[in-house]
Amino acid sequence: MHVLLIGSGGREHALAWKLAQSPEIGDFYAAPGNPGIAAHAVCVALDVTDHAAVTAFCREKAIDLVVVGPEAPLVDGLADTLRAAGIDTFGPSREAAQLEGSKGFTKELCKRANIPTARYERCTSLEAAWGALKKFDPPFVLKADGLAAGKGVVIADTREEAQNALNEMFDGKFGSAGSEVVIEQFLTGEEASFFALTDGTAILPIGTAQDHKRVGEGDTGPNTGGMGAYSPAPVLSEALQAQVMREIVEPTVQTLREEGMPYSGVLYAGLMLTKDGPQLIEYNARFGDPECQVLMMRLESDLVELMQACARGTLGEVAAPVLSDDFALTVVMAAEGYPGTPKKGGPIDLSEAEAGGAKVFHAGTKLEGDTLTSSGGRVLNVTARGASATEAQANAYAAVDAIDFADGFCRRDIGQREVRRERG
Ligand code: AMP
Ligand code: GLY
Repeated sequence: MHVLLIGSGGREHALAWKLAQSPEIGDFYAAPGNPGIAAHAVCVALDVTDHAAVTAFCREKAIDLVVVGPEAPLVDGLADTLRAAGIDTFGPSREAAQLEGSKGFTKELCKRANIPTARYERCTSLEAAWGALKKFDPPFVLKADGLAAGKGVVIADTREEAQNALNEMFDGKFGSAGSEVVIEQFLTGEEASFFALTDGTAILPIGTAQDHKRVGEGDTGPNTGGMGAYSPAPVLSEALQAQVMREIVEPTVQTLREEGMPYSGVLYAGLMLTKDGPQLIEYNARFGDPECQVLMMRLESDLVELMQACARGTLGEVAAPVLSDDFALTVVMAAEGYPGTPKKGGPIDLSEAEAGGAKVFHAGTKLEGDTLTSSGGRVLNVTARGASATEAQANAYAAVDAIDFADGFCRRDIGQREVRRERG
């Protein structure tokens, strides 16, 4: 089977690594890919915003399956164009991808399908938003409606801070993403992520994870795309996972199908485990980054078969994904300056990194001649397995310590909450 993978980050490197292990894989391309992905796939410079060019490439190379990694092409309707051209595609339609592309869309779906989520107000003007604030108590949760690269959520401790943040949102701080804002009730609890594959009808869970969003140790400092993650998330017990399926994921998939916008691909549910049960914080229409890296490290099933079944509507006919009992843990090495402006171009030596069985996924790297250099904020995802979180953490940091990347930094406490729990 000939496969085209869209994307260039650590998530896509992990997907490429796993897809390449399938006995089904034939010709394998990635657009645009990265130096890590290049070990598994032929990287091609395709403009993925040019849907006609992507379709033409698929025809020329007789691509059987397109796997879309990031959210932007999905929200932009790439999967619709490809499917209309008869090309099997892993990833939801533009309409269904609104689960990630519009916070308001998701909140209203929750209301229609009776899915547990924080009480909210949708506001389309600054005046309305200031007014709606009165219905909430601090801390205030303010969300720009559209895609904002993970930066569109503000938690404000005081009313004044909230008003200032709303001013900025309606003033265009997040571009058109902020022309509508959702204000919602603050939820308390532990956060965890739940992933499920679906073809619009059948649903198969594909693991749980927890990530570390803040840049600094002890969960301090500004938010990032994620500084590390581990899987499984034992706080999501079997019983809680069943509840999440029943109360959140199944009604979502069913409602979207009944309303004529079936969702296919991976559904990533960001959850708050409150004392009243799991509540939906947000949906993403793709795998998490870096959560995908730890899921792929544990996945024992054939990813090509699973993704093709999602794309073709035959997920009900394949066996549920099998994940190893091991823990997997990934540490993000970022370039100095991240999440502000990262220092680019610093050399990286990975020659000793994988000696102990770890896997280094490339997130923001570039080859300059023969030298691997950093080219983004999050640069490497150093990923390892172990029989426990404690072991996986030790293995991942041993690999981190074997990497020579002078301009890089990482948090030293990824997975610490789980390690503390294991100590008892
Ligand atoms: P989101 O982009 O919707 O995932 O929000 C980013 C982060 O903001 C989440 O991971 C939570 O840590 C936090 N957050 C979002 N919504 C709420 C809420 N209703 N209550 C508490 N924290 C929230
Ligand atoms: N790591 C969070 C995300 O992918 O949205």
